Amino acid sequence: MRISVIGCGYVGLVTGTCLAEAGHEVICTDNDPERIASLKAGVVPIYEPYLDAMLAANQRAQRLSFTSDAGETVRAGEAIFICVGTPPLENGEADLSAIDDVARMIATEARESKLVVEKSTVPAQTGQQLKRVLEVYRRNGTVQFRVASNPEFLREGTAVEDFLHPDRIVFGVEDEVSERQLREIYRPILERKFRCSVHMNACPATQPPTLVVTTINSAELIKHASNSFLAMKRGILFAQGRSGIYSFGGAFGRGLQHVEGGRAGK
Ligand SMILES: NC(=O)c1ccc[n+]([C@@H]2O[C@H](COP(=O)([O-])OP(=O)(O)OC[C@H]3O[C@@H](n4cnc5c(N)ncnc54)[C@H](O)[C@@H]3O)[C@@H](O)[C@H]2O)c1
Repeated sequence: MRISVIGCGYVGLVTGTCLAEAGHEVICTDNDPERIASLKAGVVPIYEPYLDAMLAANQRAQRLSFTSDAGETVRAGEAIFICVGTPPLENGEADLSAIDDVARMIATEARESKLVVEKSTVPAQTGQQLKRVLEVYRRNGTVQFRVASNPEFLREGTAVEDFLHPDRIVFGVEDEVSERQLREIYRPILERKFRCSVHMNACPATQPPTLVVTTINSAELIKHASNSFLAMKRGILFAQGRSGIYSFGGAFGRGLQHVEGGRAGK
């Protein structure tokens, strides 16, 4: 499938590269021209094991490309993944201005109907707001947008492996076409049928990912519940570490290692 990715940060680069690795034709854009110039030259601006080699291989195979032309990116893909940053504001709320800019840009640049997938971490109800913006700014009534949420659970440091071998994948959808399209996009990962450069095709025999299909609002909430759970776990383990409790039992010790491995979402 032809897929567009907007935002080439941690999540966008890993998503774009891994979906190309899974066999899709992916085009990525970012509003930072230096970042795009560097990616076109094959220089990856973040360090993540396996990413450089995988990115270069997929660029060579012409399944992965980068452009500063956001309009071209929007028009190229049947599905568009929004992967821009949503940093916290001073009041603690998420800054959704980049999501809003991208929504308007997609609406005005698209010439035909698209699936718009919210991958950035956003507060509940953002998908509904995204739908409204797409509807208001679209060129004309013949262009229809379907919106879905597909929150990301990757961890920095093991992001490529987490994306290609996740323990769960969440689809927040409100229509069958979007669900079918997302299943098609993730089929190689769900069925473990892709050439895995991480394990050189000798992937560990773990359970296939759990697929959770739910509403857009619930998918947004699941991501926050997951982040809260991880934060709470870190807090408890930190307190246990401070009080020396973990040193009394193996289970606590194992839990602590797990957290130290960076199991924290954003
Ligand atoms: N990094 C993680 O471990 C992680 C894990 C799960 C979810 N998330 C979530 O995913 C989202 C992206 O996170 P990230 O770590 O990749 O952020 P990031 O800051 O690394 O990357 C965001 C990218 O979006 C680009 N961008 C911003 N506005 C844009 C616009 N209008 N048009 C085009 N590009 C634009 C920026 O230039 C940047 O390259 C956030 O919502 C984050 O909370 C992050």
